[in-house]
Amino acid sequence: MENACIWNWNYWLRGVRMKEIKVGLIGFGTVGQGLAEVLFMQQERMPKRTGMRIELAAIADKSAKALPERFAHIPLVQNGQDVINNPDIDIVVELIGGIEPAKSFMLAAIAAGKHVVTANKALLAQEGRDIFAAAAAKGVCVGFEASVGGGIPVIKALREGLVANRILSISGIMNGTANYILSRMTDEGIPFAEVLAEAQRLGFAEADPSYDVEGIDTAHKLAILMSMAYGMHITHREVNTEGISRIEPLDIELAREFGYRIKLLAISRNHGDHVEARVHPTMVPQDHLLASISGAYNAIHFHGDCAGNILLYGLGAGKVPTGSAVAADVVDIARDIACGSIGRVPPLSYLSDQFTPRRITPMDELYGPYYFRFTVLDQPGVLASIAGILSEQDISIESVIQKGRKESGGAVPLVIVTHAAQESSVERALARINTLEAVTAPAVKIRIFEDE
Ligand code: HSE
Repeated sequence: MENACIWNWNYWLRGVRMKEIKVGLIGFGTVGQGLAEVLFMQQERMPKRTGMRIELAAIADKSAKALPERFAHIPLVQNGQDVINNPDIDIVVELIGGIEPAKSFMLAAIAAGKHVVTANKALLAQEGRDIFAAAAAKGVCVGFEASVGGGIPVIKALREGLVANRILSISGIMNGTANYILSRMTDEGIPFAEVLAEAQRLGFAEADPSYDVEGIDTAHKLAILMSMAYGMHITHREVNTEGISRIEPLDIELAREFGYRIKLLAISRNHGDHVEARVHPTMVPQDHLLASISGAYNAIHFHGDCAGNILLYGLGAGKVPTGSAVAADVVDIARDIACGSIGRVPPLSYLSDQFTPRRITPMDELYGPYYFRFTVLDQPGVLASIAGILSEQDISIESVIQKGRKESGGAVPLVIVTHAAQESSVERALARINTLEAVTAPAVKIRIFEDE
């Protein structure tokens, strides 16, 4: 095995023709173009680092008519299957996104004995089990660094850098679009719909932004990280998910008054026999590192029992940053090919026969502090009634503020921040409070982040 590596490096040292690794790309959209750019930008540096020449040998895209000048020498085909069928290709990179035909292309490439790389978090979070099983059976690699955190090397950090840790928790901001929208709402007091419309006009948010703003994209990413962190099968459907579309500027302003910023967080805590899996708007204390992540950036925090706290921060999207993550997978596989060490590192970090089922903590069992905003008539006794119901459910109040004063008995916001309480008690209390005559709109509930 070692001889293969030494042989390869000797080639390089002696100036003999280097080994070439041929890459076939399916999908020449934003990330596909990013990969091509990165391989072009690094064409001198790559052989110095790897002893190999990594060549983009074919591109399939069903709508591209021609490739930009600097890539004009690369054969362009319409059908991904033509790339898979090409006997010269060592690694097939799938960058079309979505479930189908991406899944069929991945499985066909694996069946043809090709190593595969993808950035497709939706596919892995939903169908990953089939893909990893097929790859293991065929003895080929699956690279997916770009599926979480764009250019941040989070997958490799978790799979290899933290391999000697029991992961106690994962938390983070994993969607730049949602974070950008919340940052603009926070900094400029603009309502959600207005920021979203502007982001779409600037081409920043997708025409269908639901995956980003409803937390689904973040749930995909959390499911992938949880599989690797805990050695368990989990799909994004098992992640309890709430998005940011109902967050109002008023809550952002009130959060600030209480010393918090609202962020869309992915959170998983490892309780041994059960693990939390949740994505929701969260009040983060202003002095916490995650509160300072603004705009299109991502930050992913792991707590390992040996390494302690690790925070990875960087660009979670974008053509070239994400292209660099795809290229890193290609290089990893190329090195394994050169060294004859395919399969050295299991793609999900755990050996596939060592995956164990884990119960997902029901949301009812969560225990933590809460922010409530009630819309109530401004009249005597309302606060006492609400406090009474909270007390019956064993929910202790930390602070209360009422905004404004309505002489005529009109509605005002009444905000209560609680000490840690059980979510089932919170739900029971809010259901009762919502029925009070003096309460004119359903209560707003936002969970408050606490480091474990
Ligand atoms: N749509 C994602 C985001 C980037 O806005 O962060 C790709 O995962």
